[in-house]
Order: sequence, then structure tokens, then C-alpha cells
Amino acid sequence: MAKLPKIFIALAIQLLVLLFMAVSVYVAPIVVEPPYPYWLLVILQGLFSALLVTPFGLPKWWRLIQFLLPLGLYGAILVQFNPIWVLVIFIAVWLVFSNVFGDRVPLYLTNSSTRQALLKFIKPRQSIHFLDLGSGLGSNVAFMAQQKGVLNSHGVETAPLPYLFSKLYCFFRGGEIFAMDIWKTQLSYYDVVYAFLSPQPMPELWLKVKDEMRPGTVFISNSFAVPDIEPSEVWQLNDARQTTLYIYNID
Ligand SMILES: C[S@@+](CC[C@H](N)C(=O)[O-])C[C@H]1O[C@@H](n2cnc3c(N)ncnc32)[C@H](O)[C@@H]1O
Repeated sequence: MAKLPKIFIALAIQLLVLLFMAVSVYVAPIVVEPPYPYWLLVILQGLFSALLVTPFGLPKWWRLIQFLLPLGLYGAILVQFNPIWVLVIFIAVWLVFSNVFGDRVPLYLTNSSTRQALLKFIKPRQSIHFLDLGSGLGSNVAFMAQQKGVLNSHGVETAPLPYLFSKLYCFFRGGEIFAMDIWKTQLSYYDVVYAFLSPQPMPELWLKVKDEMRPGTVFISNSFAVPDIEPSEVWQLNDARQTTLYIYNID
């Protein structure tokens, strides 16, 4: 069950509760006189679905989603929300956040204090090949391309809208973005590889880093440490989100 994408588990819970509600409405007249108001049934649907979140192995924060989902659908029916808009919103969200479904990595961005901290790795080096794995809107790639000592600044991104945006952005500001999966990159080309992803891909990514990166190069992960691997350095930044950079010198 834990291996299934969380969205499927959440929908399975909703369907299970819906089935339970249907049976309950069928047998309830034995004890309580109908009719039963729709709003009450919808609230119960949300409540029961929220209660089943942890027994089914979903993180606690799914409770709110599970509770609000039936309420949202009911509200949409009440205001006769055109389903075409639901489709349009879904497609827009997918174009930006499609990597949530695979590597469980959404789009959030490195801030400028972190970029300044990254500079400290670049400054003492020369002829750097820099790579941002999952480059989002391309700000890190363009920033690095403008630094002295950086020969190539590359990013790879597969979410369609961020890719198109960053391609254009880097065309004007410097650096190069490739529509490539992080798992298909060849890390041996790079001296500094930066990743700001999520806990999910880190163990597998570390195997790739160890396999491909050359001695003397650096792998830097923003916020997400590689489990069970001691970083060479940990930098705690003093920015608003208290960013932690995990630095792994490859030897
Ligand atoms: C948290 S964002 C970081 C964006 C950027 N690196 C930054 O620091 O501002 C992670 C990015 O990685 C992308 N991503 C996730 N999995 C990917 C994959 N397998 N291949 C390419 N890009 C991926 C996501 O689409 C997202 O834009």
C-alpha cells in the first residue's frame, strides 16, 4: 500500500467511505427517519475520509485535503462550477508540478541568500562546469553563468512550463537549460552539482553522484540530506527560511 502513489490511496479512501455512506443511507431508515440533508452527508464523508488517513499510511497533513475534497466538490455542484475550468486548472497545475507524480518534487525556488552562499564554492575555483538538477525557473543557472570562473552553467528540467520559462530566461540572462530527466544526466562532466529536490530521490541520487562525479568535485543539496551519509560540511544559512546546505566533497 505504501508503494502506491499517495493520490491513489487518498482516492481509494474516498471511494471506500462513499460505499460505506451509501450502505449507511440504505439501512439508516431503520433507526432514523429520512430525509438526510446532503450537507450533513458531505461533512460525514469528509470526516470519515480524514479519519482513515493515518490508518492507510498517509501523512497527517492529508487529513485536511481529505476533509475538504468532498466539501469542495459539493460546493462546486451548488454554484454550478463549469467542469471545463476544473480541467483547465488541472492542466495548468500539471504543467508546472508534473514532477510531483514521479520524484515527488514540487517547484519551489532557491532564494538569493542561498545563491550568494553557493558563490563561495565557485570563487576559489576556475573553469567550473555547474549543473542545477531540476533547475525550476532557471535563476540559479543564469546567476552562475554570470560568475567569473564559471565556464558552463547548465540546468535540467522536465516540468513543461518551468522548462519553457527557464529556457527563455536563460537565453537572455546566460546559461543553458535542457529538457532532460535528472536521471539521464552525465554528472562526470560537472565540478559543482546542485540539487534542491525532496527527501524521496536522495538515496538513489547519491548512488548516481558516487558513480559518476569525479574526485575533487562537489555535490550540494539544499535542505535534503542524503540519508545515512555524513556530509563533508553543513552550512546553516541565516535567511528567512533557515536554509541548510549539505555539502558532499567527492573523493
Ligand atoms: C524544488 S524545485 C528547485 C528549482 C531550482 N533548482 C531552484 O533551486 O530554484 C525542483 C525542480 O526539480 C524539477 N524536477 C523534479 N524531478 C525532476 C526530474 N526527474 N528531472 C528533471 N527535473 C525534475 C521540478 O520540476 C522542479 O522544477
